[in-house]
Amino acid sequence: MGRTAEQWKQKPPLPKTHYVDTRVYTDEGIFEEEKEKIFAKTWMLACHESELPAPNDYRTYHHPAGVNLIVVRGEDDRVRSFFNVCPHRGNTILYSPSGNAKRMTCIFHAWSFDSEGNCVGLPREKAGYCSGGDCSVSRDDLGLREVKTQVGYGGFVYVNLDDGCEPLEDHIGPALDTIIEQIDTEPLEVFSYHRAVVNTNYKLWHDTNSEFYHDYLHVHNRLTSMKQEGYFERKMIPYPNGHAEVGSQEVHYEAYEGGKGRAEAGFPGVEGNPWSLIDLFPGYSYNLRASVLRVDSQIPLGPNKTAIEYRSLGLKSDTVEQRRQRVLDNQTIWGPFGRNLHEDLLAVDGQGRAIQNGSRYVLHAREEDSTIHDEVGMRHFYAEWSRRMGRLAGDPTKAVALEKPARA
Ligand code: FES
Ligand SMILES: [Fe+2]
Repeated sequence: MGRTAEQWKQKPPLPKTHYVDTRVYTDEGIFEEEKEKIFAKTWMLACHESELPAPNDYRTYHHPAGVNLIVVRGEDDRVRSFFNVCPHRGNTILYSPSGNAKRMTCIFHAWSFDSEGNCVGLPREKAGYCSGGDCSVSRDDLGLREVKTQVGYGGFVYVNLDDGCEPLEDHIGPALDTIIEQIDTEPLEVFSYHRAVVNTNYKLWHDTNSEFYHDYLHVHNRLTSMKQEGYFERKMIPYPNGHAEVGSQEVHYEAYEGGKGRAEAGFPGVEGNPWSLIDLFPGYSYNLRASVLRVDSQIPLGPNKTAIEYRSLGLKSDTVEQRRQRVLDNQTIWGPFGRNLHEDLLAVDGQGRAIQNGSRYVLHAREEDSTIHDEVGMRHFYAEWSRRMGRLAGDPTKAVALEKPARA
């Protein structure tokens, strides 16, 4: 029997950790608070070091807290990040998304900066500044605002707006331990990048990467994984700080329309056709299959809009044949021309519509001994989200102080 409008809005008869109030996905005020309490204080994955191969190569990055950053490789080979904001009158310095600039020059009054953030050019400097007296300033005081930057975990560039933040290693902890040998032994290289702007909340995409019950959505996964040995033994493993891992299994690609094994181009220490997925708080996923590491990173643009960046990587040392194999696998299965990604995108868009139609709660309630269809990954994410926000995701209207959970 269908439910009435009144019943549709009632709290589920479950513990508060097992459902989420949908206002966490739609409320403008909650989104603004996330910027301040989560995005501005957490390590964010900005790009990959291979996107900046040469000195003075840069990329701009729209940081989820709302500021635009420049990520640039210095002439000393170190990758740094800066606010893309001129210290003179606040103009944008770089407009193009990527390039190479020995000098980054602001168009407004032509102040220029090097890739270490130093102000190295200031027109009519002596006439107006630096000439002694009360209005004297030095170019040394006029550098760009630097942002904490660390490169690691497969050569990804992580940034944190909070100067007093914990080291990246403390934030990630052991979450990537099971794949670290595969991704950190040899330099990696991005061979495919694409971006989808979706009318949904960033957490809905992350939810989709944090539970595998939705494998029913993917014919490919049903055939190559769910129907194969080992699938229901896969574990969902929560880690400190809101991260979670889905344990690996051998994938049988041959089970889908005569596909073949994908092991021709691998990663160090990988045997067969495994598939590991690790979700990092608040919106990143490392998805390692035999021939491709796909990393999803999100740039929330508003409560109902997120840009999802997809990077697919192989080894920098790939032969032409190996790279061709990775590109083919990626494009036909996991990338923009495969079907899985679009099925997931349809699902998160659909969830958004359900919420707008007045459903107040969504369920994260499955418990199956922390195996593959247990929704502990999502519960673990929202425990961390609730702690940082000082609001329960199941009842976000009230402020509460929560202890840091070690495990969900
Ligand atoms: S605002 Fe950049 S030089 Fe004036
Ligand atoms: Fe999926």
